[in-house]
Amino acid sequence: MDLNLRNKVVLVTGGARGIGAVICKMFAAEGAKVGINYRQSREQAETLAGEIGCGQAAPIQGDIGNEADIAPMFDQLEQAFGPVEVLINNAAHCPSGPLESYTREEWERTFAVNVTGAFQASQQFIQRLRARRATGRIVNISSQAAFLGSTSGHLPYDASKGALISMTRALAREVAPEGIAVNAVAPGMVMTEMVAEIWEQRKEKYLARIPLHRIGQPEEIARVVVFLASGAASYMTGATVDVSGGVLMH
Ligand SMILES: NC(=O)c1ccc[n+]([C@@H]2O[C@H](COP(=O)([O-])OP(=O)(O)OC[C@H]3O[C@@H](n4cnc5c(N)ncnc54)[C@H](OP(=O)(O)O)[C@@H]3O)[C@@H](O)[C@H]2O)c1
Repeated sequence: MDLNLRNKVVLVTGGARGIGAVICKMFAAEGAKVGINYRQSREQAETLAGEIGCGQAAPIQGDIGNEADIAPMFDQLEQAFGPVEVLINNAAHCPSGPLESYTREEWERTFAVNVTGAFQASQQFIQRLRARRATGRIVNISSQAAFLGSTSGHLPYDASKGALISMTRALAREVAPEGIAVNAVAPGMVMTEMVAEIWEQRKEKYLARIPLHRIGQPEEIARVVVFLASGAASYMTGATVDVSGGVLMH
């Protein structure tokens, strides 16, 4: 299937490592031009851009939780490759701990990155599409924890991922008449730095509740994200696609 992504300009937030890095590579393999946003992983972003090739990838520094960083990220990517046509809201902050351990500051930081950051990046993206009367696609990376909660203490993160799904639906309705699609992916456990330690500690418990009886790989999420960002998903908007090895089945 031709996904028709050749020369499309894609911004992936938190694209330097983990699932985001694989998403960047997969877009590049489809011929897209990728902005690899990072907050602190400069070296990884530069290495990844080098692997992809500088004519097709650019590292873009910016803290998604900081309003002042949002527009300059789009400006930089536009200067490198032209107007952005696809936005992947992948960056996430995921603190761990029991209920009593969270401060208001930690709660707000989690929402600032996972919800407000995705909102402001989407708002900026849509304003730019509208100015060009262009269509575009957004994919938000949520989590199965939005539906089920975590068993390992990630309350603010779980709540933020639920908000991201609500935002996906509300925004999808609002911008559908303009040909802008907004979808989400809800991954189950995927082997990245975010979960590597907890997976090793509680592997048997996790395996028991995953029908496919294994942890997911970043490629298995990235393939769905790239599909949703392409014209092949032309009749989809407001959807949340479960990629959880069968944990969700909604
Ligand atoms: N792994 C899983 O099991 C799993 C399950 C469900 C959903 N997800 C979701 O999948 C997405 C990717 O997760 P992952 O496992 O790949 O995570 P990860 O390995 O922990 O990577 C997190 C990424 O987010 C970026 N990031 C964090 N705060 C940022 C900020 N303020 N501004 C810009 N970038 C920021 C990091 O960039 P820097 O290093 O530059 O800070 C990094 O690239 C997240 O949305 C996560 O919630 C993951």
